[in-house]
Amino acid sequence: MLDTSQASRARFITFEGGEGVGKSTQVKRLLASLAETSIQAVRTREPGGTPKAEAVRSFILQGRSESWGAGGEAVLFAAARLNHVNELIAPNLAAGKWVISDRFHDSTRAYQGLTGGVDDKLIAALESLALDGHAPDLTIVLDMDPEIAFRRVAQRAIEDGLALTGDRFEKEDIEWHKRLRDSFLSIAKANPSRCVVISADQGEDALEGAIWAVVSDKFPELTGRARA
Ligand code: TYD
Repeated sequence: MLDTSQASRARFITFEGGEGVGKSTQVKRLLASLAETSIQAVRTREPGGTPKAEAVRSFILQGRSESWGAGGEAVLFAAARLNHVNELIAPNLAAGKWVISDRFHDSTRAYQGLTGGVDDKLIAALESLALDGHAPDLTIVLDMDPEIAFRRVAQRAIEDGLALTGDRFEKEDIEWHKRLRDSFLSIAKANPSRCVVISADQGEDALEGAIWAVVSDKFPELTGRARA
């Protein structure tokens, strides 16, 4: 089949939400579904995605940036994002490949801005610098009560025989995570044409189906393409 839509316009999709809502699993599943429709897509994540941004990721998640305060951390996330956009996201979109990112700019808005108290103007300025016009076409916000999400994370750690250590943000208390959830919901409400909120409190298969319904509805070029 001649595929002109893919060549003319690759799509940028981001996944957002609090801790333990199952984003990474669903990002992988969406990639697999897109591959079945012959869409070429790359999976990435934030913070990270490129070697330079992964170095910033380690620095932040080890807690080494905590003393910089939420404003300093917002600047670090933005620096990593600038490199991620320039070296991975923009070139892939230009080459006709869809890009699916596990977190992006809404995480800075939610964690450092609305929940962390960093001024909107700083967040907006950093965003305009880092994104350089590359806003996502679609953002899927996976929503879950943090108490349920935390129980799931603990259960998974027990099943995998892993210690539950908690990185920089996982250590915040439950009230903080409830504010974080509200922050993502308010971002989605303020950006209805870009963001869709989906309850993550359902089985992985059902959630995958709900996400696919949103993605295929949003992008008509997927209509009629085979997906098992
Ligand atoms: P990660 O282990 O990838 O968490 P998750 O699996 O929940 O995505 O760690 C990323 C952490 O960084 C997570 O706690 C969210 C946080 N974060 C911010 O605070 N601001 C940001 O801009 C980004 C991209 C992530």
